[in-house]
Amino acid sequence: MGASPKPKRDCVPPTARPLLAADVDGVAAIERAAFTDPWPARAFTELLAQPHVRAFAVDQEDGRLAGYALASVAADQGEILNLAVDPLARGHGLGRRLLDALLEMFRRERVTSVFLEVRQSNEVAIRLYRRAGFRPQSSRKRYYRNPTENALTMTLSLAPETAEKG
Ligand SMILES: CC(C)(COP(=O)(O)OP(=O)(O)OC[C@H]1O[C@@H](n2cnc3c(N)ncnc32)[C@H](O)[C@@H]1OP(=O)(O)O)[C@@H](O)C(=O)NCCC(=O)NCCS
Repeated sequence: MGASPKPKRDCVPPTARPLLAADVDGVAAIERAAFTDPWPARAFTELLAQPHVRAFAVDQEDGRLAGYALASVAADQGEILNLAVDPLARGHGLGRRLLDALLEMFRRERVTSVFLEVRQSNEVAIRLYRRAGFRPQSSRKRYYRNPTENALTMTLSLAPETAEKG
């Protein structure tokens, strides 16, 4: 053999954890850095208090919040409400890790169809969603403000898990 061992990857993305009300200040700071039309902190506080909302976080090595993802579940329908990673922590798989946490949760809760909206110019996010299997569905004209822009809607069908016997 003789091949030298592969260098260890120094950037294995951390596991996602539940997002808590105590994280809201960190969430709002990332939100302001990530979006030109950020949601205020109270929007997150209100969402986290709702029983149909699911939310995950990933942390940096020093324990600071690195990113968050929020979604809602209504019967077998899921919707991704928000997903963002601190600009300084991007490109290391955290966005994908958060999306995977949402998709795992949707499957666990027997969601069969997931919906989201994204700015049509947001190529990085659209690529992330496409890679996870989302497909473009339609356009919502002038849906976003600051700047005004169409939304692209995307959907993902999740195959129902194999029925358990008994
Ligand atoms: C979209 C976002 C969450 C991705 O976070 P991230 O941690 O950088 O994502 P990952 O490292 O998991 O990378 C996901 C994909 O995006 C690609 N990507 C990341 N940064 C990129 C960049 N600057 N340019 C091009 N592609 C990029 C990665 O290469 C990866 O694609 P791949 O799987 O084909 O390699 C992040 O860019 C973000 O917070 N953007 C602002 C908020 C936003 O747009 N949210 C989505 C709203 S619907």
